[in-house]
Amino acid sequence: MPGPPELDRDQHSVGHRHLDDLAVDLVWEVGEHGGRGDGAVVVHHHVGSDSFSCVHDNSSCSLHTFPTASAAIDATNGRPVRLSSRAQQLRPSTIRAIAERAGQVTHPLVRLDIGEPDFPEPAVLAEVGGEILGAGSSYLPTRGLPAFRERLAEHLTASLGDSLEAPLTADAVHVTAGGSEALTLAFALFCDAGDTVLLPSPGYPGYGMFTSTLGVHTRTYALDPEDGWRPDLAAIEAGLADGARVVVVNSPNNPTGSVVSREDHLRIVELARAHDAWVVADEVYHAMQFSGDVLNAYALAPDRTIGVYSFSKTYSMTGYRLGVALVPEALREKYTMLMMGGVSSIAQEAGLRVLDTDTAPMHAFYAARQELATKVLEAHGLPSWPAAGTFYRLVALPDGADDMAVALALVEAGVVAVPGSAFGELSGHGTSYLRLSLTRPDEEIERAVAVIAEVLRGGTTGS
Ligand SMILES: Cc1ncc(COP(=O)(O)O)c(C=O)c1O
Repeated sequence: MPGPPELDRDQHSVGHRHLDDLAVDLVWEVGEHGGRGDGAVVVHHHVGSDSFSCVHDNSSCSLHTFPTASAAIDATNGRPVRLSSRAQQLRPSTIRAIAERAGQVTHPLVRLDIGEPDFPEPAVLAEVGGEILGAGSSYLPTRGLPAFRERLAEHLTASLGDSLEAPLTADAVHVTAGGSEALTLAFALFCDAGDTVLLPSPGYPGYGMFTSTLGVHTRTYALDPEDGWRPDLAAIEAGLADGARVVVVNSPNNPTGSVVSREDHLRIVELARAHDAWVVADEVYHAMQFSGDVLNAYALAPDRTIGVYSFSKTYSMTGYRLGVALVPEALREKYTMLMMGGVSSIAQEAGLRVLDTDTAPMHAFYAARQELATKVLEAHGLPSWPAAGTFYRLVALPDGADDMAVALALVEAGVVAVPGSAFGELSGHGTSYLRLSLTRPDEEIERAVAVIAEVLRGGTTGS
């Protein structure tokens, strides 16, 4: 490990005035910034039980890559508030770190970091406001508007296809504040603080945030990039044997765009049953699948699975915060009791009206985007993994490249992409990678890929 460079603590502290104001000691721990090999170090600071990290080049803190988890200050006495240990342990995500850096620059950027569709929202939504607002409101049943749940049951029965033994009834349907709430409630249902949830790696960073709000631990199982991102079933079995309460299956997967085969999924369900654990199937991208088995996981094992769906990606309705959990019969009452009073009637009325929208044009739109990405990345000689679903694309970086350093260099060059390490390492493979969200117009994607190729050719971002 290279020796730590001389750090100018005064210069460094300039970026952290709020900490100076607290008059607390900064504890410095210096370590190598993994894989970068150019003498840059990561400095971990501890302020009481709060901590954050900065990457240093030479002696300055110009590469301030990790957002600080700023201390909560009590306005009456100026002292840090004594927070719960769960709250203290919450950390900002790497995705936010890159977004913050992007927010600091003044030049134009192509934003390929945000997992938000650029397909237009259903036209019917423009009419909804006038119908709903001003018509009065009252508390709704916690699980959702009855008419909406009925309609969702019909709709999901059609889209889950032949896998269902019997049509879904509204009883199974729970309307949630996005897939996020559906997932959090599922973890809360099965796990006490200290219990473990098994997560795919690479995987959606939100899972770790949801579990940490509950004090729940996580353990990952690898998806193998050399085998179509197939889940490591042995790792799942080992995790369950060690007492994990839940295994999360995400198909199509964020960030890989891969799908889980029906056979592997059935094996995961069998393992969960054998170990008295539960399957949480995150299918928020199910309307955006282009090849491979469409899992319909809830339909495959409705007694063992909580199925999670969302309006965010399917209908370009991220801001409405509308999702669905399909819950096994035996668990419905307790799942509902964990709900915090239900979802706004405005969002639910809107959701009811968009269910007739044909999603085929959205599907074709993102299938075309994936094809465009394949063509453009190949033309620039950038290796990437084909995606069976979603609007994400993973680009493999050259050996030894540091994904965070590449992402920061890209921001300077006008492109925002997410470093792959935000989603987990590729275990057993030395490769680092970037996630591109193909949610900008074609010409911007073409331009961004050219910039990525140029930055990587520059070779200043790795060993
Ligand atoms: C895999 C996955 N699951 C769940 C979510 C949460 O989505 P929402 O809460 O908007 O429905 C996301 C959002 O990006 C996601 O990528």
